[in-house]
Amino acid sequence: MPDLRGKVAIITGASSGIGRGTAVEFALLGAHMTLTGRNQENLQATAKASVEAGTPEDKILVVTGDICNDELRKNLVDQTAQKFGRIDVLVNNAGIFTFGSIETTDMAVYDKMMDVNVRSAVRLTQLCVPHLTKTKGAVVNVSSINGVRSMSGCLAYSLSKVALDQLTRCVALELASKQIRVNSVNPGVIPKDIFKRGGMTDEEIVQLMEHCKSTHALGRVGEVSEVAKTIAFLASSDASFITGAQVPVDGGKHAMCPR
Ligand SMILES: NC(=O)c1ccc[n+]([C@@H]2O[C@H](COP(=O)([O-])OP(=O)(O)OC[C@H]3O[C@@H](n4cnc5c(N)ncnc54)[C@H](OP(=O)(O)O)[C@@H]3O)[C@@H](O)[C@H]2O)c1
Repeated sequence: MPDLRGKVAIITGASSGIGRGTAVEFALLGAHMTLTGRNQENLQATAKASVEAGTPEDKILVVTGDICNDELRKNLVDQTAQKFGRIDVLVNNAGIFTFGSIETTDMAVYDKMMDVNVRSAVRLTQLCVPHLTKTKGAVVNVSSINGVRSMSGCLAYSLSKVALDQLTRCVALELASKQIRVNSVNPGVIPKDIFKRGGMTDEEIVQLMEHCKSTHALGRVGEVSEVAKTIAFLASSDASFITGAQVPVDGGKHAMCPR
């Protein structure tokens, strides 16, 4: 098991899904954490689950707000450094999804997608670099299969994830001399709230999950814990010679080809 004992991590989008699962996994591995998201109640639920998994209550900081707000981002980093005296890991997980093609994508939706999924990760990474330099830390970006393969009908989302993957690779090179590692996980379909929030009905989600049995080589969708464990590995010293990587956590979906 990776060891995150005493490491200080910021996890964005910690109020739900993969972010919550990552917080719990990090708690099991001994990390101290700042959890952020907009929904205070859900964040508190994540904090509670993390305490139950092993993180002492006083080693969890909850910062509520919109990740697109630069004041929030600065507070997040400053408060974390102030409380814990160090930052070892940044997990850029907060993200939104929506359908839309080149013919139907509203540019306001496009701008919002890029703001949440890309700009916030760029800026937060920028703010963390001085701290990660001191700790020789790690960044893990939560990208998607949409970063590495092309699908029709979710253009803005796919563009945002391609940008995030390029952020991973470029910043990995830029920060390598400081011994800061930067990697992505690229999940396939993980049945969480993101689809509902992205506008799908319950029935459409059920249909998607059924369809996914044939679109993921392993014949099923993934689980939050499978992504969280990969994030924890990349954040830990077990991955000490891995940087600039996109790690698929997708049941083989990235390797498939229609025939
Ligand atoms: N689920 C999948 O199948 C899948 C597959 C590939 C990649 N991913 C990626 O995994 C990441 C997490 O997705 P998920 O499935 O766990 O989705 P989710 O359950 O919808 O969680 C999304 C998280 O992002 C936060 N968030 C969204 N907009 C925000 C904003 N403006 N400011 C602050 N926080 C914001 C949400 O916080 P609040 O609710 O508190 O606002 C929530 O904690 C995303 O980057 C997504 O693209 C998911």
